[in-house]
Amino acid sequence: MNIKLVALCVIATSFFAGPDLTTGPGHDLTKVLGPSECIECHKHSGGIWESSPHHKSITEVHRSPEGQAIAKKLNIRRIGKNSLCLDCHATSKQIGEEVTTVAKGPSCESCHGAAADWMSRHGEFSGKEEGQESKEEIAARWKEAEGSGMLRPSMVLEIARNCVSCHVVPHEDLVNVGGHSAGSDFELVSWSQGNIRHNNFYSKGKHNKQASIEKRRLFHIVGIMAEMELVLEAISTAKKMGTYAKKNAQRFSLLRKKLAAVNKAIDHPQIKATMASISKLKMSLSNQPAIALAAKKVSESLNAFAILSDGSKLAGVDPLLSKTADYKGGEPGSNK
Ligand code: HEC
Ligand code: HEC
Ligand code: HEC
Ligand code: HEC
Repeated sequence: MNIKLVALCVIATSFFAGPDLTTGPGHDLTKVLGPSECIECHKHSGGIWESSPHHKSITEVHRSPEGQAIAKKLNIRRIGKNSLCLDCHATSKQIGEEVTTVAKGPSCESCHGAAADWMSRHGEFSGKEEGQESKEEIAARWKEAEGSGMLRPSMVLEIARNCVSCHVVPHEDLVNVGGHSAGSDFELVSWSQGNIRHNNFYSKGKHNKQASIEKRRLFHIVGIMAEMELVLEAISTAKKMGTYAKKNAQRFSLLRKKLAAVNKAIDHPQIKATMASISKLKMSLSNQPAIALAAKKVSESLNAFAILSDGSKLAGVDPLLSKTADYKGGEPGSNK
């Protein structure tokens, strides 16, 4: 083979190998059960999920010209078989080598954690009748469920980090090469309290209340910081100043403004510490080491904030919270 041909082959192989696409949110697919298992007991949650935008995501993406265009640019033949698209637009489970799609959109376990290890324990009342367990037994049951990977509604930090792991779209090549959206215009209160809200289990379907004011305060602040943490990580590891890095830099400025408003509204050591680590931060590739360090500082403050705050003393942020009219998709879907 002459040199030119070798060079051509090298280029061709690297082209067909495709861009570097790491996988999406880190769920252990071997532990996914699928939403039909949950809906057996949680039919009220299921009813809302089935009418939410999460339910049919991959079907819409697959049909849309936009989805086809992204797939073409990334040399993906079948969107419905591509694990990268499925990671965020569907729910998959794995048995042995075989991966199957169990829901055509993000579903229960995409947000509450893959359930094989906690499913039987979380709702079994320690083998007694409902209401008969001791306080210690209840605590032990939940502790075990959490320890086995369950994300409970009270775990605001884990929930926020999980939402943004999809909604920030932390994949440089998917955005720069594929032309995929660089993420949603996300905000945890308005995005969790609208059409996806399903706080209707404990009321047995009678009502679907919005989260308490204390929880919405935490959602607002923790949501901003969790997104900021991931956005800074994304910029600090970007390979070039393309759409991906630029959009994330814009997003960072917006988040910094939102956090500055929080900092003005409440006097809180962790928020102050976060502002101090980001207030003069410059968004350029030459500054990546400092951006990576800032991401770490934001994480540390965020972890401390989430442990130390229960929302009751954060009333200062109330004027900053999204109003009902801003909830994504309006009031929640049918409350079946
Ligand atoms: C056999 C019935 C049953 C099945 C199946 C079931 N659950 Fe539950 N779940 C319950 C019960 C009962 C509770 C309430 C327990 C309590 O009141 O202490 C509960 C509570 C919950 C909660 C609220 C936890 C909290 O902190 O208040 C979530 C979230 C949840 N389940 C998710 C799921 C998901 C996701 C699945 C499927 C992987 C699932 N459940 C399958 C019975 C079930
Ligand atoms: C596994 C990935 C994933 C997770 C986790 C996830 N989402 Fe989504 N979400 C998506 C995708 C993908 C879409 C776009 C659906 C579509 O239109 O195809 C979406 C759409 C939405 C929409 C509808 C937006 C609109 O324009 O109407 C809302 C609201 C939403 N998500 C809120 C949330 C919240 C809140 C969380 C966390 C509690 C969350 N999502 C977690 C992937 C995810
Ligand atoms: C890291 C998570 C993630 C991955 C991986 C991902 N997407 Fe998305 N995608 C999203 C989110 C989140 C949205 C909604 C963006 C918004 O709110 O504007 C979205 C939106 C879209 C849309 C716009 C239409 C719609 O349904 O809202 C298309 C088309 C799309 N994705 C195609 C793809 C294809 C094709 C792949 C695989 C090559 C893919 N996506 C992989 C998260 C992801
Ligand atoms: C997009 C992420 C997401 C999906 C998908 C999702 N949940 Fe949830 N779930 C949450 C969040 C966040 C909360 C807490 C919301 C709040 O406090 O306003 C919650 C709350 C709950 C609760 C407590 C309800 C109550 O009455 O207080 C149960 C039970 C539950 N989810 C079960 C399920 C089941 C079963 C499914 C699938 C049919 C499901 N969830 C799908 C994110 C999700």
